Amino acid sequence: MIGKDIQLAKQLLDKGELVGIPTETVYGLAANALDITAAIKIFEAKNRPSFDPLIIHLASVGDLPKYAVAVPQIIYDIASEYSPGPVTYLLPKKDNVPDLITSGSPYVAIRIPNHPLTLDLLGQLDYPLAAPSANPFGYISPTTAKHVEEQLGHKVAYILDGGQCEVGVESTIISVEEDGALRVLRKGGLTIEELERFTTHPIRVEEASSSKPDAPGMLSSHYSPTKPIYWKQEVSQAIAKYNLARIGILDFAGALHNQYVGAAHVLDLSSNGSLNEAARNLFDYLRQLDSYDIDAIITMPVPDMGLGLAINDRLKRATFKK
Ligand code: TXA
Ligand code: MG
Repeated sequence: MIGKDIQLAKQLLDKGELVGIPTETVYGLAANALDITAAIKIFEAKNRPSFDPLIIHLASVGDLPKYAVAVPQIIYDIASEYSPGPVTYLLPKKDNVPDLITSGSPYVAIRIPNHPLTLDLLGQLDYPLAAPSANPFGYISPTTAKHVEEQLGHKVAYILDGGQCEVGVESTIISVEEDGALRVLRKGGLTIEELERFTTHPIRVEEASSSKPDAPGMLSSHYSPTKPIYWKQEVSQAIAKYNLARIGILDFAGALHNQYVGAAHVLDLSSNGSLNEAARNLFDYLRQLDSYDIDAIITMPVPDMGLGLAINDRLKRATFKK
């Protein structure tokens, strides 16, 4: 069931049920983070491996010390400007955070999501919400309540409808190194350029990895549509292999469809080249193309700046060939 009833969402969460929640990045699949029986349901519903830990969501920056042992000043500096917002802090956990949530790690990932409905809900709960993106493991993240219903509707008690997600890609996950440098474990809605203002150290940015990524969710293959999807030099091979009239194009600023006229469908992430607009459209357009009667999807990288870094990271993983 989809609706805007915060009280109903609260009642269901209090009972240990799963609820889909809107955030500014993507929709989350939420449960009481302190209730192990409830949190286990998240892993089951998503078919998510238990080695992949969950982010916990809080109502305010002031709550960070309830769940984190030590919060470095630089995190407070960033949080004062960007929380609520699309950034997640990896911090040493307190004992009250179950090991199930962190997959046994002594660090917990915490964020304050910037969505009025979810902030209102979180403010009424006396526990944080554990919430991964509300998609089956490995598939495209949801940016509308309808996306959640299509894929997990039968597994959630309720979906809180907060409209389309403003940012459209997941939060940037950061940690602070021993020498005080910032490390980006996942590129996301808060850009590296914005983070650079807070530190004189170079920022260490992790790339997706097929072996042992530091953020366990940073696997090379993720965000994958069911249709084969190609980019960069693979595009000419795809054009040779498939009939153009059976190909869908995920375009950016008209570049591909001006070159490949006659494709079955064209969805342009942003016809005027806005990376913010492209991020907002990314997952919805990937889903739409995946639902069409076509044989393959071709796409391209966007400029490597601002939200473009997070978009290219998602496209790299969507196009990864196992
Ligand atoms: O924008 C977002 O962050 C969304 C919304 C719903 O808040 N959530 C989200 O969660 O993207 P999820 O589970 O799809 O991705 C979170 C990733 C995990 O895959 C994992 O790599 C990393 O965060 N993570 C969480 N807890 C961690 C921990 N204790 N140590 C290292 N990485 C962690
Ligand atoms: Mg996810």
